[in-house]
Amino acid sequence: MAAERSDPLVSIRDAKLHYRVGGALSALRGLTNVVKAVDGVTFEIGRGESVGLLGESGCGKSSMGRLLLKLETATGGEIVFDGADIAGLKGQELRNYRARTQLIFQNPFDAVNPRYTIRAILAEPLENAGIAKAEHETKIAAALELVRLPQPEQYLDRYPHQLSGGQLQRVVMARALILQPDFVVADEPVSMLDVSVRAGVLNVFRDVRDRLGLTAIYISHDLALVRYVCERTIVMYLGKVMEDGPTEDIVHEPLHPYSKALVAAVPVPHPDQSHDPLPIGRGAPDPRNPPSGCVFRDRCPKAFDRCASETPLLREVGSRKVACHLF
Ligand SMILES: Nc1ncnc2c1ncn2[C@@H]1O[C@H](COP(=O)(O)OP(=O)(O)O)[C@@H](O)[C@H]1O
Ligand SMILES: [Mg+2]
Repeated sequence: MAAERSDPLVSIRDAKLHYRVGGALSALRGLTNVVKAVDGVTFEIGRGESVGLLGESGCGKSSMGRLLLKLETATGGEIVFDGADIAGLKGQELRNYRARTQLIFQNPFDAVNPRYTIRAILAEPLENAGIAKAEHETKIAAALELVRLPQPEQYLDRYPHQLSGGQLQRVVMARALILQPDFVVADEPVSMLDVSVRAGVLNVFRDVRDRLGLTAIYISHDLALVRYVCERTIVMYLGKVMEDGPTEDIVHEPLHPYSKALVAAVPVPHPDQSHDPLPIGRGAPDPRNPPSGCVFRDRCPKAFDRCASETPLLREVGSRKVACHLF
Protein backbone atom coordinates (compact mmCIF):
# COMPACT_ATOMS: atom_id res chain seq x y z
CA MET A 1 0.00 0.00 0.00
CA ALA A 2 2.72 2.46 1.02
CA ALA A 3 4.55 1.85 -2.25
CA GLU A 4 1.40 2.64 -4.22
CA ARG A 5 1.00 5.92 -2.36
CA SER A 6 4.14 7.38 -3.86
CA ASP A 7 2.69 7.52 -7.38
CA PRO A 8 1.05 10.83 -8.29
CA LEU A 9 -2.70 11.13 -7.69
CA VAL A 10 -3.17 13.00 -10.95
CA SER A 11 -0.99 12.79 -14.02
CA ILE A 12 -1.69 15.06 -16.97
CA ARG A 13 0.05 14.40 -20.28
CA ASP A 14 -0.14 16.83 -23.18
CA ALA A 15 -3.74 17.78 -22.29
CA LYS A 16 -5.62 19.88 -24.83
CA LEU A 17 -8.96 21.62 -24.74
CA HIS A 18 -9.69 23.49 -27.96
CA TYR A 19 -12.99 25.35 -28.23
CA ARG A 20 -14.59 26.03 -31.61
CA VAL A 21 -15.75 29.63 -31.72
CA GLY A 22 -17.49 32.14 -34.08
CA GLY A 23 -17.15 31.18 -37.74
CA ALA A 24 -17.20 33.44 -40.80
CA LEU A 25 -16.68 36.78 -39.09
CA SER A 26 -13.50 35.71 -37.27
CA ALA A 27 -12.11 34.39 -40.55
CA LEU A 28 -12.72 37.78 -42.18
CA ARG A 29 -10.82 39.44 -39.36
CA GLY A 30 -7.89 37.11 -39.89
CA LEU A 31 -8.64 35.04 -36.79
CA THR A 32 -8.88 31.29 -36.56
CA ASN A 33 -12.08 29.86 -35.15
CA VAL A 34 -10.34 27.83 -32.49
CA VAL A 35 -9.41 28.92 -28.99
CA LYS A 36 -6.68 26.69 -27.63
CA ALA A 37 -7.68 27.20 -24.00
CA VAL A 38 -5.45 24.32 -22.89
CA ASP A 39 -2.75 23.45 -25.36
CA GLY A 40 -0.37 20.65 -24.50
CA VAL A 41 -0.27 20.87 -20.72
CA THR A 42 1.76 18.32 -18.78
CA PHE A 43 2.13 18.10 -15.00
CA GLU A 44 1.57 15.80 -12.06
CA ILE A 45 -0.06 16.32 -8.69
CA GLY A 46 1.29 14.26 -5.82
CA ARG A 47 -0.97 12.81 -3.15
CA GLY A 48 -1.57 15.39 -0.44
CA GLU A 49 -0.08 18.16 -2.54
CA SER A 50 -1.65 21.64 -2.92
CA VAL A 51 -0.73 23.05 -6.30
CA GLY A 52 -1.41 26.59 -7.43
CA LEU A 53 -2.44 27.29 -11.02
CA LEU A 54 -1.47 30.88 -11.67
CA GLY A 55 -1.96 33.24 -14.61
CA GLU A 56 -3.92 36.15 -16.01
CA SER A 57 -7.59 35.95 -16.84
CA GLY A 58 -8.20 33.94 -20.02
CA CYS A 59 -5.02 31.84 -19.87
CA GLY A 60 -6.95 28.60 -19.49
CA LYS A 61 -6.94 27.97 -15.73
CA SER A 62 -10.66 27.24 -15.37
CA SER A 63 -10.60 25.16 -18.55
CA MET A 64 -7.79 23.08 -17.03
CA GLY A 65 -9.82 22.70 -13.82
CA ARG A 66 -12.89 21.58 -15.76
CA LEU A 67 -10.79 19.04 -17.68
CA LEU A 68 -9.49 17.62 -14.42
CA LEU A 69 -13.02 17.19 -13.10
CA LYS A 70 -14.18 15.73 -16.41
CA LEU A 71 -16.70 18.52 -16.82
CA GLU A 72 -15.21 18.95 -20.29
CA THR A 73 -13.87 16.29 -22.62
CA ALA A 74 -10.25 16.76 -23.61
CA THR A 75 -9.51 17.43 -27.27
CA GLY A 76 -6.21 15.62 -26.82
CA GLY A 77 -3.75 14.11 -24.38
CA GLU A 78 -4.58 12.09 -21.27
CA ILE A 79 -5.47 12.61 -17.66
CA VAL A 80 -4.78 9.71 -15.34
CA PHE A 81 -6.38 9.85 -11.90
CA ASP A 82 -5.29 7.29 -9.31
CA GLY A 83 -4.04 4.99 -12.04
CA ALA A 84 -7.05 5.20 -14.40
CA ASP A 85 -7.46 7.31 -17.53
CA ILE A 86 -10.54 9.44 -16.86
CA ALA A 87 -11.45 9.56 -20.55
CA GLY A 88 -12.91 6.06 -20.27
CA LEU A 89 -15.04 6.62 -17.14
CA LYS A 90 -18.77 5.96 -17.60
CA GLY A 91 -21.81 5.07 -15.54
CA GLN A 92 -21.04 4.04 -11.95
CA GLU A 93 -17.31 4.68 -12.39
CA LEU A 94 -18.00 8.21 -13.51
CA ARG A 95 -20.37 8.73 -10.56
CA ASN A 96 -17.64 7.49 -8.21
CA TYR A 97 -15.22 9.91 -9.83
CA ARG A 98 -17.68 12.75 -9.34
CA ALA A 99 -17.89 11.91 -5.63
CA ARG A 100 -14.09 11.68 -5.25
CA THR A 101 -13.44 15.02 -6.96
CA GLN A 102 -15.05 18.34 -6.10
CA LEU A 103 -15.12 21.91 -7.39
CA ILE A 104 -15.21 25.04 -5.25
CA PHE A 105 -16.30 27.90 -7.43
CA GLN A 106 -15.47 31.59 -7.05
CA ASN A 107 -18.88 33.03 -6.28
CA PRO A 108 -20.54 31.13 -3.45
CA PHE A 109 -23.88 32.81 -4.18
CA ASP A 110 -23.86 31.22 -7.66
CA ALA A 111 -22.87 27.85 -6.27
CA VAL A 112 -25.96 27.23 -4.12
CA ASN A 113 -29.70 27.16 -4.63
CA PRO A 114 -30.98 30.36 -2.95
CA ARG A 115 -34.23 28.60 -1.96
CA TYR A 116 -32.47 25.84 -0.02
CA THR A 117 -31.60 26.20 3.65
CA ILE A 118 -27.98 25.58 4.61
CA ARG A 119 -29.12 22.22 6.04
CA ALA A 120 -30.63 21.22 2.69
CA ILE A 121 -27.55 22.42 0.79
CA LEU A 122 -25.32 20.23 2.93
CA ALA A 123 -27.70 17.25 2.93
CA GLU A 124 -27.93 17.12 -0.87
CA PRO A 125 -24.60 15.39 -1.56
CA LEU A 126 -25.29 12.95 1.29
CA GLU A 127 -28.65 12.05 -0.21
CA ASN A 128 -27.15 11.69 -3.68
CA ALA A 129 -24.54 9.33 -2.27
CA GLY A 130 -27.25 7.25 -0.56
CA ILE A 131 -26.08 7.99 2.98
CA ALA A 132 -28.66 7.08 5.64
CA LYS A 133 -30.69 10.00 7.04
CA ALA A 134 -29.64 9.09 10.56
CA GLU A 135 -26.03 9.95 9.71
CA HIS A 136 -26.72 13.33 8.15
CA GLU A 137 -26.71 15.45 11.30
CA THR A 138 -23.31 14.20 12.46
CA LYS A 139 -21.70 14.50 9.04
CA ILE A 140 -23.07 18.00 8.53
CA ALA A 141 -21.83 19.13 11.94
CA ALA A 142 -18.38 17.62 11.27
CA ALA A 143 -18.13 19.34 7.88
CA LEU A 144 -19.10 22.70 9.37
CA GLU A 145 -16.62 22.25 12.18
CA LEU A 146 -13.92 21.52 9.59
CA VAL A 147 -14.50 24.87 7.89
CA ARG A 148 -14.63 26.64 11.25
CA LEU A 149 -18.32 27.33 11.41
CA PRO A 150 -18.92 26.07 14.92
CA GLN A 151 -22.40 26.08 16.44
CA PRO A 152 -24.09 24.73 13.30
CA GLU A 153 -27.53 25.37 14.79
CA GLN A 154 -26.82 29.04 14.08
CA TYR A 155 -26.71 28.42 10.34
CA LEU A 156 -28.67 25.31 9.47
CA ASP A 157 -32.11 26.86 9.12
CA ARG A 158 -30.94 30.01 7.40
CA TYR A 159 -30.91 30.73 3.68
CA PRO A 160 -27.82 31.69 1.65
CA HIS A 161 -28.69 35.40 1.49
CA GLN A 162 -28.76 35.49 5.28
CA LEU A 163 -25.05 34.61 5.43
CA SER A 164 -22.05 36.76 4.61
CA GLY A 165 -19.97 35.91 1.53
CA GLY A 166 -17.22 34.49 3.73
CA GLN A 167 -19.66 32.33 5.73
CA LEU A 168 -21.33 31.08 2.57
CA GLN A 169 -17.99 30.22 0.94
CA ARG A 170 -17.25 28.09 4.01
CA VAL A 171 -20.61 26.36 3.60
CA VAL A 172 -19.71 25.70 -0.05
CA MET A 173 -16.39 24.28 1.12
CA ALA A 174 -18.18 22.14 3.71
CA ARG A 175 -20.45 20.79 0.98
CA ALA A 176 -17.44 19.99 -1.23
CA LEU A 177 -15.67 18.23 1.64
CA ILE A 178 -18.61 16.41 3.24
CA LEU A 179 -18.06 13.21 1.25
CA GLN A 180 -14.32 13.33 1.98
CA PRO A 181 -13.17 13.73 -1.61
CA ASP A 182 -9.64 12.80 -2.69
CA PHE A 183 -9.19 15.84 -4.87
CA VAL A 184 -10.52 19.39 -4.89
CA VAL A 185 -10.33 22.09 -7.57
CA ALA A 186 -10.77 25.53 -5.99
CA ASP A 187 -11.32 28.07 -8.77
CA GLU A 188 -10.57 31.63 -7.60
CA PRO A 189 -12.26 30.72 -4.29
CA VAL A 190 -11.76 34.08 -2.61
CA SER A 191 -11.77 36.49 -5.54
CA MET A 192 -15.42 37.48 -5.02
CA LEU A 193 -15.01 37.99 -1.30
CA ASP A 194 -14.24 41.19 0.55
CA VAL A 195 -10.55 41.56 1.19
CA SER A 196 -11.32 41.61 4.92
CA VAL A 197 -12.69 38.06 4.95
CA ARG A 198 -10.26 36.50 2.47
CA ALA A 199 -7.62 35.67 5.05
CA GLY A 200 -10.17 33.77 7.13
CA VAL A 201 -11.23 31.61 4.18
CA LEU A 202 -7.59 31.07 3.13
CA ASN A 203 -6.81 29.94 6.66
CA VAL A 204 -9.59 27.39 6.37
CA PHE A 205 -7.98 26.09 3.18
CA ARG A 206 -4.65 25.72 4.90
CA ASP A 207 -6.25 24.10 7.87
CA VAL A 208 -8.16 21.59 5.74
CA ARG A 209 -5.05 20.85 3.70
CA ASP A 210 -3.10 20.09 6.87
CA ARG A 211 -5.84 18.17 8.68
CA LEU A 212 -7.13 16.06 5.79
CA GLY A 213 -3.96 15.85 3.71
CA LEU A 214 -6.21 16.93 0.87
CA THR A 215 -4.89 16.95 -2.69
CA ALA A 216 -5.93 20.22 -4.28
CA ILE A 217 -5.42 22.53 -7.16
CA TYR A 218 -5.94 26.15 -6.29
CA ILE A 219 -6.64 28.41 -9.26
CA SER A 220 -5.83 32.10 -8.96
CA HIS A 221 -4.57 35.13 -10.83
CA ASP A 222 -2.99 36.35 -7.58
CA LEU A 223 0.42 35.02 -6.58
CA ALA A 224 0.04 36.26 -2.99
CA LEU A 225 -2.99 34.00 -2.52
CA VAL A 226 -1.37 31.01 -4.16
CA ARG A 227 1.67 31.52 -1.97
CA TYR A 228 -0.47 31.38 1.13
CA VAL A 229 -1.90 27.95 0.34
CA CYS A 230 0.31 26.11 -2.16
CA GLU A 231 3.80 24.68 -1.82
CA ARG A 232 4.03 24.33 -5.60
CA THR A 233 2.94 26.67 -8.37
CA ILE A 234 2.30 26.18 -12.07
CA VAL A 235 2.37 29.35 -14.15
CA MET A 236 0.15 29.27 -17.26
CA TYR A 237 0.03 31.62 -20.23
CA LEU A 238 -2.29 31.25 -23.25
CA GLY A 239 -3.02 27.59 -22.63
CA LYS A 240 0.56 26.53 -21.90
CA VAL A 241 2.69 25.92 -18.82
CA MET A 242 5.50 28.48 -18.59
CA GLU A 243 7.00 27.46 -15.26
CA ASP A 244 6.34 24.78 -12.64
CA GLY A 245 8.14 24.60 -9.32
CA PRO A 246 8.23 25.24 -5.59
CA THR A 247 6.20 28.39 -4.88
CA GLU A 248 8.90 29.99 -2.76
CA ASP A 249 11.51 29.48 -5.50
CA ILE A 250 9.22 31.14 -8.03
CA VAL A 251 8.46 34.02 -5.66
CA HIS A 252 12.11 34.66 -4.78
CA GLU A 253 13.69 33.91 -8.12
CA PRO A 254 11.21 33.60 -10.97
CA LEU A 255 12.95 32.22 -14.05
CA HIS A 256 10.46 32.62 -16.89
CA PRO A 257 10.07 36.27 -17.99
CA TYR A 258 6.30 35.89 -17.56
CA SER A 259 6.71 34.61 -13.99
CA LYS A 260 8.99 37.59 -13.36
CA ALA A 261 6.20 39.91 -14.52
CA LEU A 262 3.66 38.19 -12.27
CA VAL A 263 5.97 38.47 -9.28
CA ALA A 264 6.64 42.14 -10.00
CA ALA A 265 2.93 42.95 -10.44
CA VAL A 266 1.42 45.23 -7.86
CA PRO A 267 -1.38 43.37 -6.14
CA VAL A 268 -4.79 44.78 -6.97
CA PRO A 269 -7.85 44.27 -4.81
CA HIS A 270 -10.34 43.67 -7.61
CA PRO A 271 -9.99 40.79 -10.05
CA ASP A 272 -12.33 42.44 -12.55
CA GLN A 273 -10.34 45.63 -12.87
CA SER A 274 -9.89 46.67 -16.45
CA HIS A 275 -6.34 47.99 -16.42
CA ASP A 276 -3.40 45.70 -16.83
CA PRO A 277 -1.44 45.37 -13.59
CA LEU A 278 1.52 43.64 -15.20
CA PRO A 279 4.72 45.51 -16.01
CA ILE A 280 4.70 44.05 -19.53
CA GLY A 281 2.26 46.38 -21.19
CA ARG A 282 -1.04 45.52 -22.78
CA GLY A 283 -3.02 42.37 -22.09
CA ALA A 284 -2.56 38.95 -23.58
CA PRO A 285 -3.05 38.62 -27.37
CA ASP A 286 -6.30 37.32 -28.86
CA PRO A 287 -6.28 33.60 -28.07
CA ARG A 288 -7.69 32.90 -31.56
CA ASN A 289 -4.49 34.26 -33.04
CA PRO A 290 -1.56 33.50 -30.72
CA PRO A 291 2.00 34.40 -31.77
CA SER A 292 4.08 31.76 -33.52
CA GLY A 293 6.82 30.03 -31.55
CA CYS A 294 6.63 31.12 -27.91
CA VAL A 295 3.10 32.41 -27.20
CA PHE A 296 4.54 34.95 -24.73
CA ARG A 297 7.10 36.45 -27.11
CA ASP A 298 5.18 39.59 -28.15
CA ARG A 299 5.07 40.76 -24.53
CA CYS A 300 8.46 39.41 -23.54
CA PRO A 301 11.23 41.92 -22.85
CA LYS A 302 13.82 39.21 -23.56
CA ALA A 303 12.44 37.82 -26.82
CA PHE A 304 14.93 37.05 -29.63
CA ASP A 305 14.76 35.44 -33.11
CA ARG A 306 14.38 31.86 -32.02
CA CYS A 307 11.29 32.73 -29.92
CA ALA A 308 9.30 33.43 -33.11
CA SER A 309 10.30 30.26 -34.92
CA GLU A 310 10.39 27.59 -32.24
CA THR A 311 8.00 26.78 -29.38
CA PRO A 312 10.06 26.29 -26.22
CA LEU A 313 9.53 22.95 -24.46
CA LEU A 314 9.10 22.64 -20.72
CA ARG A 315 12.52 21.60 -19.46
CA GLU A 316 13.95 20.83 -16.04
CA VAL A 317 16.00 23.68 -14.59
CA GLY A 318 17.16 22.89 -11.04
CA SER A 319 14.15 22.54 -8.74
CA ARG A 320 11.63 23.36 -11.47
CA LYS A 321 10.56 23.23 -15.08
CA VAL A 322 10.65 26.20 -17.43
CA ALA A 323 9.48 26.66 -21.03
CA CYS A 324 11.78 29.40 -22.33
CA HIS A 325 14.66 29.50 -24.81
CA LEU A 326 16.74 31.43 -22.27
CA PHE A 327 17.09 28.25 -20.22
N1 LIG B 1 -17.07 27.40 -23.47
C1 LIG B 1 -16.17 28.13 -24.14
N2 LIG B 1 -16.28 28.35 -25.46
C2 LIG B 1 -15.37 29.07 -26.14
N3 LIG B 1 -14.29 29.65 -25.57
C3 LIG B 1 -14.14 29.48 -24.25
C4 LIG B 1 -15.06 28.73 -23.45
N4 LIG B 1 -14.64 28.75 -22.16
C5 LIG B 1 -13.51 29.47 -22.16
N5 LIG B 1 -13.21 29.92 -23.40
C6 LIG B 1 -12.02 30.70 -23.79
O1 LIG B 1 -10.90 29.92 -23.44
C7 LIG B 1 -9.86 30.73 -22.92
C8 LIG B 1 -9.50 30.28 -21.53
O2 LIG B 1 -10.60 30.54 -20.66
P1 LIG B 1 -10.60 30.12 -19.12
O3 LIG B 1 -10.20 28.70 -19.01
O4 LIG B 1 -11.89 30.52 -18.54
O5 LIG B 1 -9.41 31.04 -18.54
P2 LIG B 1 -9.12 31.56 -17.05
O6 LIG B 1 -9.86 30.69 -16.11
O7 LIG B 1 -7.63 31.45 -16.92
O8 LIG B 1 -9.58 32.97 -17.00
C9 LIG B 1 -10.37 32.16 -23.00
O9 LIG B 1 -9.91 32.73 -24.20
C10 LIG B 1 -11.87 31.99 -23.01
O10 LIG B 1 -12.50 33.06 -23.69
MG1 LIG C 1 -11.26 31.25 -14.66
